Amino acid sequence: MSHKGEMLYEGKAKQVFATEKADEVVVRFKDDATAFNAQKRGQVDKKGEMNNAITTLIFKYLNQKGVPTHFIKQLDEREQLVKKVNIIPLEVVVRNYSAGSMAKRLGLEEGIKSPVTIFDICYKKDELGDPLINDYHAIFLGAATEQELKEMYALARKINDILTELFDKVNIILVDFKIELGKTSDGKIILADEISPDTCRLWDKDTKKKLDKDRFRRDLGEVTEAYVEIYNRLKTILE
Ligand code: TMP
Ligand code: ASP
Repeated sequence: MSHKGEMLYEGKAKQVFATEKADEVVVRFKDDATAFNAQKRGQVDKKGEMNNAITTLIFKYLNQKGVPTHFIKQLDEREQLVKKVNIIPLEVVVRNYSAGSMAKRLGLEEGIKSPVTIFDICYKKDELGDPLINDYHAIFLGAATEQELKEMYALARKINDILTELFDKVNIILVDFKIELGKTSDGKIILADEISPDTCRLWDKDTKKKLDKDRFRRDLGEVTEAYVEIYNRLKTILE
């Protein structure tokens, strides 16, 4: 049994609590939603439960496929036990189709399939609005070494391959997603944070309906329904 101790950290969508073990923490998923560097705020009914359940399904599956993750076990509807890591202050974004900030920056329509897998990195710094950077900046900032960046991109590519195939089986296009990686006390880089409709763009293959946080960002309605839909579809093929 892990007993939840003091709150170590509170982010926009999650809280992190200590346990009696120095190398394990509890993550609690909230219903709070923010967008555009927290300029837009709201609540999405059931989001915490759904993101906990979806992240659990996905991280378990990635573990089975040989991707190291921080996930240990789901504790209840909103909480999971994970390995404590030092989060690398970089967000790795993987894109298979044009969308979101890349479509805007490059003046592209959304939904154009890219001939190559695109990787972006952003520097995790709220005061700066998590700016897009490149490998040189990351090294300059001391966020990661050249070797660590190589490992991070390799993990991101492997996760993209596994999840593209997984979502395809439930008739969903994985348009893009963001991951965060952490370092364990022995220096190993593993997947941390979450993978959920908050951190992915997920479109129905037939209708192209958005089943992710863009429904909240863009006021499209049926936000909870989209998260429940993703969970239900994944449940049909994952235990
Ligand atoms: P972007 O197109 O806005 O850069 O987003 C790319 C992907 O990263 C998309 O799937 C949403 C996800 N994302 C996050 O998980 N957190 C963020 O803060 C942002 C801006 C994007
Ligand atoms: N979660 C991020 C924020 O509030 C942005 C996003 O997901 O769009 O700023």
